Amino acid sequence: MNFDDVILGRRSIRGYLKKPVPKALVREVLEIAMRAPTSLNTQPWNFYVVAGDVLDRIRKGNVERNLAGVPHSREFRMGPGYEGAHRERQIGIAKQLFAAMGIAREDKVARDDWVLRGFRQFDAPVSIVITYDKSIQGSDIAPFDCGGVVNCIVNTAWSRGLGCVINSQGIMQSPVVRAEAGIPDDQVIQTCIAMGWPDDSFPANAVVSTRKSVDEAAVFRGFPD
Ligand SMILES: Cc1cc2nc3c(=O)[nH]c(=O)nc-3n(C[C@H](O)[C@H](O)[C@H](O)COP(=O)(O)O)c2cc1C
Repeated sequence: MNFDDVILGRRSIRGYLKKPVPKALVREVLEIAMRAPTSLNTQPWNFYVVAGDVLDRIRKGNVERNLAGVPHSREFRMGPGYEGAHRERQIGIAKQLFAAMGIAREDKVARDDWVLRGFRQFDAPVSIVITYDKSIQGSDIAPFDCGGVVNCIVNTAWSRGLGCVINSQGIMQSPVVRAEAGIPDDQVIQTCIAMGWPDDSFPANAVVSTRKSVDEAAVFRGFPD
C-alpha cells in the first residue's frame, strides 16, 4: 500500500474476526512504528502486548468494575469536559457509530452494551498497552511522544491488513490492566490499542469519521501565495 492509501484508508476498527494475530506480526508493526520521532530521541514508550487469557481477564475485570460503579482511575489528567466545537465533534462521531449500528438515541440497553464493548476492547484478539517511565512523569512531552508512536502503530497495522482502535476505555480501570499485564509501578499507563483482523461485516467498521478543513486548522503567513 502506498502511504496516502494507508493514511486515507485507515479508520478505527471496533469489530474483529475471531482469528489470532501472530506475535511475529505485532513485533513487525512495533519495529516499524518505533521509527517515530521523539523529543531528544528519548523514546519514552514501553509496550505490554497482551492476548489470550491475559487479555480476557483484563476485559472481565474492566467490565466487572465498571458495572460495580468503581470510579475510573486513568493515570493522566483529563482537563475540563469538552464544549463547543470539540463537544460537537464528540457527539458527531457517536451519532455516526450509533447510526451504523442501528442504536436508537433512547435505547439505553443498546447504548450501555456499546459502552461495555469498549471496556472489553471490542473483543479484539490483541491489546497493546502503552506506558512510559514514571521518572519522567510531569512533563507533557512523554505523552506527546507516546501519541506519535501510537499513530504510527495504527497506520503500520493498517498497511498490513490489521485494524486497530486506540482505546482509552481499555485503561480506565488501570489497576486491573496493571496487575494482569504485569506492568511495574515505575511505569505510567498512557493508553491502549485494540488490534486484530477487521470483521468487514461489522457495521461500525465502515464509519468514516469527518475532519475539519485545513482552512479551519491552519494559519499560513509569509508565503508569496
Ligand atoms: C487518545 C484516543 C483515545 C480513544 N479512545 C477511544 C475509546 O475509548 N473508544 C472508542 O470507541 N474510540 C476511541 N478512540 C478512537 C476515536 O474515537 C477515533 O480515532 C476518532 O473518532 C476518529 O476516527 P478514526 O480513527 O476512524 O479516524 C480514541 C482515539 C484516541 C486518539
